[in-house]
Amino acid sequence: MRLILLGAPGAGKGTQAKKLSEKYGIPRISTGDILREAMQKGTALGLKAKSYMDSGQLVPDDVVIGIVEEKLKDKECIKGWILDGFPRTLQQAQALDRILTGIRTSIGHVLNFEVNEEKIIKRISGRRSCESCQSAYHIYFNRPQKDGVCDSCGGRLIQRNDDKEETVRERLKVYQEKTQPLVSYYSERSLLKKIEADDDIENVFTRICSFVL
Ligand code: AP5
Repeated sequence: MRLILLGAPGAGKGTQAKKLSEKYGIPRISTGDILREAMQKGTALGLKAKSYMDSGQLVPDDVVIGIVEEKLKDKECIKGWILDGFPRTLQQAQALDRILTGIRTSIGHVLNFEVNEEKIIKRISGRRSCESCQSAYHIYFNRPQKDGVCDSCGGRLIQRNDDKEETVRERLKVYQEKTQPLVSYYSERSLLKKIEADDDIENVFTRICSFVL
């Protein structure tokens, strides 16, 4: 299984990537999670990424390409991988093609999550994330067993810094400008599968599983 999950912020990519990773035992590479973890630890990478992420802008291509290249070359990824939040620009997509050619593999499917903007705002405004393991919850659609506490690791649930309304609007604008062009990049190569992601979490998951096997 070698998957790219494409879609606007809040479309549900992280939620589905996690479920796929658990069900099929395939590693999930989430550039957003890696960058947030680096920020939390205060590493050089985190310090570099912070101002971009807090303002809803993309982190420079060379930074994220380096992160993904290192992960894909790891032996953990021999059985497959799920890319969540990468690529997000044409330059990243072209770099990914070069990396995959170099390690003699290729993309299986690109799943394009389609959700209307009104729903996206609702999903993001109610999202709560675990500050330790980054699992995503929702105050209505995906509640933890105990309010404010992560089911997986017991960590504290918080609202992401970039989930403020004005930053979300900026992220949606950046998505339209920089990432949306990847839809035609992959559909021209017959790799793109449209996922109706407006439905509830389990129905979307069932739909994806029927595509990827
Ligand atoms: P990143 O973390 O990748 O954020 P994103 O793409 O904006 O995606 P989100 O995490 O907001 O949404 P999602 O689609 O994963 O939705 P989720 O499953 O959480 O990136 C953050 C920042 O990092 C970027 O802005 C950028 O600065 C930087 N960055 C990352 N990658 C980069 C790259 N490649 N290049 C440059 N910069 C990069 O779901 C959202 C909510 O809805 C949750 O509460 C969830 O519980 C709920 N939910 C999910 N599915 C459903 C459903 N079907 N029904 C109801 N609720 C649902």
